[in-house]
Amino acid sequence: TVSLDALGLAITLTAGPTREPLDPVRYLTNHSSGKMGYALAAAAARRGARVRLISGPVNLPTPAGVERIDVESTNEMYEAARQSAIDSDIFIGCAAVADYRAERFSEHKIKKTSGDEALELRLVKNPDIVAAIAVAEPRPFVVGFAAETRDVESYARDKLVRKNLDMIVANDVSQAGLGFGADENAALLLWRDTTSESGRLELPPQSKATLADAIITTVMERFHAKQRE
Ligand code: PMT
Repeated sequence: TVSLDALGLAITLTAGPTREPLDPVRYLTNHSSGKMGYALAAAAARRGARVRLISGPVNLPTPAGVERIDVESTNEMYEAARQSAIDSDIFIGCAAVADYRAERFSEHKIKKTSGDEALELRLVKNPDIVAAIAVAEPRPFVVGFAAETRDVESYARDKLVRKNLDMIVANDVSQAGLGFGADENAALLLWRDTTSESGRLELPPQSKATLADAIITTVMERFHAKQRE
């Protein structure tokens, strides 16, 4: 049996990496496969939500019943996410967004110049998508992720507060077999403690499909609790 606790709700998710072009043939990116975000989109759709998935370049089929919008750069993801968030009840930022992009895109292929042993590349900061959505008014219930390699809980708690999120899903991406590219993951969920409840839930290593289902269960509980406040 599937719980229909998301029936009729509009949920926007981001997934996968973003890709920052340097010239017509090169780009900067990261190891996100999109598996975690796609599993969340599938889990939300199974519970009756209307799901829009804003996806960076990945090699995955679109989950059943999900509307997919393909983007490449962080700025493209930013525009699509802000547009979609306007009429969403819940926003979940699972994408591994490039924090920086090249200051200048080179129209032509960057040439190897003889004698130069180093090439300098100047990067500029990208907008923070999840933080921008969380400061807008009115705003959806906003869930961010935190990919950390150490001090997972304290860095995640800092992002929860600094980015004004309702909830954060922290994962330790230094663990072999979990996180980026893997089929399994584990997570620590933290949320704003507005009631007497703990605001903390540890989910042990498991397939991204079952983990996604457990994450959506807690997201729905917290979303409905906030609606009742
Ligand atoms: O895709 P998979 O291979 O399945 O791997 C899953 C995952 C490890 C990528 C995923 O579980 C995960 O941790 N996603 C978030 C990765 C990340 O960018 O984390 P962060 O700690 O750098 O960012 C914190 C939050 O801010 C995230 O919600 C991120 O989407 C958001 N962000 C970051 C930078 C930026 N410019 N805009 C953002 O919205």
